[in-house]
Amino acid sequence: MSLQLVLLALITSAFGLIYEKFSDLPTTDFDFIIIGGGTAGNVLANRLTEQPDISVLVIEAGASTADVLVSEVPFFCPQAVPQTPLDWNYTTIPQAGLNNRPISYPRGFGLGGSSAVNFMVYTRGSSQDYDRYAAISGDEGWSWDSLQPYIRRAERFVQPADHHNTTGQFNPEVHGFDGILSITLPGYPRGTDQRVIQTTSDLADEFPFNLDMNSGYQLGVGWMQTTVGNGTRSSSEVSYLGAKYISRPNLHVLIHTHVTRILQSGSNHSKSNGNNTPKFDLVEFTQDSGVTKQTLSPSKEIILSAGSLNTPNILLHSGIGDSDELATVGIESTVHLPDVGKNLTDHPRWVLNWLVTDTDTLENVYFRNETYQEEVLDQWLYNRTGFLSSMPTSQLGWLRVPDGTLAIDPSAGNETAHFELIFSNGIYHAPFPPTGDYFAINTVVLCPLSRGSVTINSTDPLSPPVVDPAFFSNPQDIEVMRQAVAKAQDFVKGPAWDGHIIELVTNTTDDDIRNGITSIYHPLSTASMSPRGADWGVVDPDFVLKGVEGVRIVDASVLPKPPAGHTQAAVYFFAERGADLIKKSWGIPI
Ligand SMILES: Cc1cc2nc3c(=O)[nH]c(=O)nc-3n(C[C@H](O)[C@H](O)[C@H](O)COP(=O)(O)OP(=O)(O)OC[C@H]3O[C@@H](n4cnc5c(N)ncnc54)[C@H](O)[C@@H]3O)c2cc1C
Ligand SMILES: *[C@@H]1O[C@H](CO)[C@@H](O)[C@H](O)[C@H]1NC(C)=O
Ligand SMILES: *[C@@H]1O[C@H](CO)[C@@H](O)[C@H](O)[C@H]1NC(C)=O
Ligand SMILES: *[C@@H]1O[C@H](CO)[C@@H](O)[C@H](O)[C@H]1NC(C)=O
Ligand SMILES: *[C@@H]1O[C@H](CO)[C@@H](O)[C@H](O)[C@H]1NC(C)=O
Ligand SMILES: *[C@@H]1O[C@H](CO)[C@@H](O)[C@H](O)[C@H]1NC(C)=O
Ligand SMILES: *[C@@H]1O[C@H](CO)[C@@H](O)[C@H](O)[C@H]1NC(C)=O
Ligand SMILES: *[C@@H]1O[C@H](CO)[C@@H](O)[C@H](O)[C@H]1NC(C)=O
Ligand SMILES: *[C@@H]1O[C@H](CO)[C@@H](O)[C@H](O)[C@H]1NC(C)=O
Ligand SMILES: *[C@@H]1O[C@H](CO)[C@@H](O)[C@H](O)[C@H]1NC(C)=O
Ligand SMILES: *[C@@H]1O[C@H](CO)[C@@H](O)[C@H](O)[C@H]1NC(C)=O
Repeated sequence: MSLQLVLLALITSAFGLIYEKFSDLPTTDFDFIIIGGGTAGNVLANRLTEQPDISVLVIEAGASTADVLVSEVPFFCPQAVPQTPLDWNYTTIPQAGLNNRPISYPRGFGLGGSSAVNFMVYTRGSSQDYDRYAAISGDEGWSWDSLQPYIRRAERFVQPADHHNTTGQFNPEVHGFDGILSITLPGYPRGTDQRVIQTTSDLADEFPFNLDMNSGYQLGVGWMQTTVGNGTRSSSEVSYLGAKYISRPNLHVLIHTHVTRILQSGSNHSKSNGNNTPKFDLVEFTQDSGVTKQTLSPSKEIILSAGSLNTPNILLHSGIGDSDELATVGIESTVHLPDVGKNLTDHPRWVLNWLVTDTDTLENVYFRNETYQEEVLDQWLYNRTGFLSSMPTSQLGWLRVPDGTLAIDPSAGNETAHFELIFSNGIYHAPFPPTGDYFAINTVVLCPLSRGSVTINSTDPLSPPVVDPAFFSNPQDIEVMRQAVAKAQDFVKGPAWDGHIIELVTNTTDDDIRNGITSIYHPLSTASMSPRGADWGVVDPDFVLKGVEGVRIVDASVLPKPPAGHTQAAVYFFAERGADLIKKSWGIPI
């Protein structure tokens, strides 16, 4: 226990320049104010403060997450949210496509943002996804090849917690080893690892082995990479705000501070600078739940990195959105930008469970054995190895539906998956079954055509946004889910599963799917990037808010389409290049 306290003290002291009170800030002069110390925000904070004469303030609603155990321990990730102190606690409106169920919609609250509560899966998507971003935005800089320097400089590929020989589990040629964000392979074996890998040779036509799903060519089944280093979550706080960065005198982080709006100091209704472009230069915020509000003005830019729900929320409360819709709510329009909050896109997820004969499962070994739980926590606290040092899942599969089975191919191209299979040696989400041993496959639709929205229904900026991912509003998405469910059932027909699988215990009618679907928490596209001068979209390819001076948006909201993968990697890459684009536009050396 004393070792634990010593470690805790070391960690806490390493994060010294985090201020809890506005009045404690040693200065109010900043070049940039970043709204949201989340995944993207901390990348920008780090890269912009590489130049000692550039000063940055990050404003974050929550607190540090770096020494919060449920965030740190990889195996605890399912406990980090929802409805915890690390969550914004959002819920969607009832989803017509899910038999009118509202669903829980967690977002990370605190430094690191969603990277501090997510499942740490590190998947870049396919090269075609990025080539499509380049095509949609009209900026070749977003193509896979052009992004390679940013992908490499973000990444620090490290040894897994158990230091096993990783030859044959990834391709070192496609990774970076000197970057900031730790990435690794599973560091503790799970009971079904060999069966999953064996199936890639037994059923190689259907489920080929892919040495590295992050190589640009993603199709097939392979080992999962995660944002973990030294057996510990590598959130954007742990990595990009790590000890050697947070100590920079030009970097300031103000926590417990909720940004309410951005405002114009000149005239609130525009045209202050002679070129008819309204300039937003004030950040309004509160530290006491709205009792008092303060403002700060950066000398260069405001950067919104509040994530795909809260970024549009702040914009709408600032009068930036569809002017008619804002009028209905009672908010005066400042800039008519109709696409703010539109096109919310997310990946629906379902899970199939099989009863199995083996007792080497997560349920039996861990969830039903308190002695073991204590033992492995002690080990993790001691040297960050063992059962808890890795995720509950170790392999992923990326597959396409057969040609001609969809009216529209929604993917970015013929080497981009339509759905994902996530294999796990047991059920790791509550409710835990009281008896039985299980194998589980999560099925995820990666290329949904359904589009929803983030809107507001109150003039109070502290009230939650109205979130509607509109799951299955386009009927093609449930068709892809049906095919994913069928494919998951094919997977366990391989000989590696003989004598292991007893039976599928999940019913698979459309109604079961609609009653069971949740999100895999990848909301995107609510402030979409579009070509400069386009009559749609919210930001230009350099993240500048359209029709406005002084504001950029750098977070998951700008991705115009979902990548065929978990979204954090793309957010890191966009933020890495975003930092360079911002520096270039201000003549700051890179
Ligand atoms: C439970 C969960 C599991 C996930 N699993 C994975 C996974 O395994 N792999 C993967 O790749 N992706 C995963 N994701 C998605 C991924 O984490 C996100 O796409 C990504 O982190 C989003 O980054 P962001 O910068 O856009 O927003 P965030 O990282 O959410 O950052 C937004 C920040 O802004 C702050 N903020 C918001 N509003 C305000 C305000 N008004 N004032 C001040 N601060 C504010 C927030 O507190 C937060 O710190 C998961 C997400 C969740 C929630
Ligand atoms: C979310 O809910 C938890 C549990 O009730 C609470 O502790 C936390 O403060 C809530 N988060 C926010 C941002 O209010
Ligand atoms: C790891 O395994 C590979 C292939 O089996 C082998 O060639 C290599 O020497 C091993 N590396 C180490 C460090 O043992
Ligand atoms: C702009 O609006 C803010 C908040 O409503 C107000 O405090 C400020 O005085 C206004 N500024 C001008 C110049 O009207
Ligand atoms: C529970 O875990 C302990 C510690 O590893 C082990 O000794 C014991 O056999 C386990 N109990 C069962 C019922 O498996
Ligand atoms: C970590 O500690 C465990 C005992 O709790 C020990 O078995 C293991 O070898 C240690 N691992 C390393 C890498 O030190
Ligand atoms: C890894 O964690 C251990 C145990 O907490 C710690 O002693 C060690 O310094 C860490 N190593 C790195 C490289 O962070
Ligand atoms: C995808 O299409 C390209 C160009 O037609 C072709 O070269 C490639 O082999 C195709 N890939 C697959 C997996 O079919
Ligand atoms: C706003 O929408 C939420 C659902 O997201 C609902 O609970 C709330 O009652 C609505 N408030 C108003 C004022 O309509
Ligand atoms: C599956 O369907 C059968 C037959 O309708 C029903 O008896 C059973 O309870 C269902 N099981 C689950 C887990 O929903
Ligand atoms: C919203 O999605 C529709 C359908 O995919 C598309 O036509 C439109 O351009 C998108 N708009 C934005 C702002 O992303």
